[in-house]
Amino acid sequence: MSNPTRQSGWQIEQNASEAYERYLVPPIFAPWADRLVEVSDVHEGDRVLDVACGTGIVARRVAPSVGDSGSVVGLDVNEGMLAVAEETATDVQSSIEWRTGDATDLPFDDGTFDVVCCQQALQFFDDPVAALEEMRRVLTSDGCLALFVWRSLEYQPAYVALADALERRIDDEAGAVMRSPFPPWDGEDLRALVLDAGFDGVSVTIEIGSVRYPSVAEFVRREAASSPVAESIAAIEQAVRDELIQALEDALETYRDDDGVVSPMESYVVVVDGEH
Ligand SMILES: C[S@@+](CC[C@H](N)C(=O)[O-])C[C@H]1O[C@@H](n2cnc3c(N)ncnc32)[C@H](O)[C@@H]1O
Repeated sequence: MSNPTRQSGWQIEQNASEAYERYLVPPIFAPWADRLVEVSDVHEGDRVLDVACGTGIVARRVAPSVGDSGSVVGLDVNEGMLAVAEETATDVQSSIEWRTGDATDLPFDDGTFDVVCCQQALQFFDDPVAALEEMRRVLTSDGCLALFVWRSLEYQPAYVALADALERRIDDEAGAVMRSPFPPWDGEDLRALVLDAGFDGVSVTIEIGSVRYPSVAEFVRREAASSPVAESIAAIEQAVRDELIQALEDALETYRDDDGVVSPMESYVVVVDGEH
């Protein structure tokens, strides 16, 4: 008997890190990485650390700014993400070093970096203040810290709808996984975390971007393939899948247009620049 998930085109991805790079980086993380590079005070010759680099989009986008006299290190705890980072960065490979490590115990000496970036990862650390303390330790005393952290779920309409639909049609875990990137922190919570880690002079601003997919079905398929609950989503029956997509079509009706589906995505931009 043929595999029903294959028949319908909802293959289980062999590799969630590859799916992340293929499906989520181009529409979501790459545009935000360009913005992160803009707000980071990066100069030619700088040493830059990308903490929790994932498949390396920030490291890749910042590398041209530091030139041959600078250096970029991408660090992540997940070796699968780093393997994809290494394969993907062939054009800028010479200036990027990929390191396995934990953000709360960075394997670098004090004052090693001029710039530390961290895109959409602080919310996943068990101890975000410990990670921020480590970022401060490895920065030079006048170095620049730039963090992007999604605003809470209510500011991400597509993900409110997706998480609710997954929870209802699959299970609580599937809903919780889709909500996990969007912490309940507001700007003052983030400021407090950064100040608790010993930084001062922090700026917290809100930026509003968007995410677009060619259809609601593709939105579900691509997010699901890149998520830790990929298998349980891929395993659902066709009828449940149709209901899930219909529920999302309804919930996102006001965000559908001739090119598919588009939704705002809001992020905090946290920058410490100068003496700290
Ligand atoms: C949403 S991804 C963001 C990746 C990347 N910064 C980007 O913009 O595409 C979150 C990343 O945080 C990493 N991560 C989670 N906890 C970590 C930790 N304690 N230390 C280092 N990396 C961690 C995960 O492995 C994952 O690659």
